[in-house]
Amino acid sequence: HENDWEEESSPGSWPYIGFLHGIMFQDITTMLLKPEAFRDTIDLFVERYKDKGITVIAGVEARGFIFGPPIALALGAKFVPLRKPKKLPGKVISEEYSLEYGTDKIEMHVGAAEPNDRAVVVDDLIATGGTLSAAVKLLERAGAEVVECACVIELPELKGRDKLGNRPVFVLVKAD
Ligand code: PRP
Ligand code: MG
Repeated sequence: HENDWEEESSPGSWPYIGFLHGIMFQDITTMLLKPEAFRDTIDLFVERYKDKGITVIAGVEARGFIFGPPIALALGAKFVPLRKPKKLPGKVISEEYSLEYGTDKIEMHVGAAEPNDRAVVVDDLIATGGTLSAAVKLLERAGAEVVECACVIELPELKGRDKLGNRPVFVLVKAD
């Protein structure tokens, strides 16, 4: 092992489960190795949002950048990257949030989303919900309507939905 990764599930299974730096990861990278599984995943989101007037797909760095852009392209929507601090070159608004391991910040370019935009926030996984709630706040501060948050995996035990109030969260897989 190059890092302190410990395998929990068998290689190639999906989601791939393991522990890195003592934290349990449900990892989507094995799914990306199967183009038909990746395509099916994108198609499920596109089907759900295609007639909903969505104008913005906001993807959360880093893993929301894997799923967001193909969905945005299929819908003909803007893709808005929500980035870790000091990465975006223009004027930004930022939101702090707490993770299982410390605090972090995400930022969005001013003008990327506007009033009248209808947005879906995309990420790979919802755990405590801190990341998605910060993402939602950025979009709402810009005046956009957040129609839904969309993730591949949910860890329901961590009750991340509670942090999002009554905003809907759509997930493909609920993990134990
Ligand atoms: C992971 C995951 C989600 C977030 C979920 O990202 O990709 O974005 O944690 O956790 P939460 O619901 O408790 O906020 P992470 O910040 O670890 O890094 P990465 O996506 O940049 O790899
Ligand atoms: Mg992430």
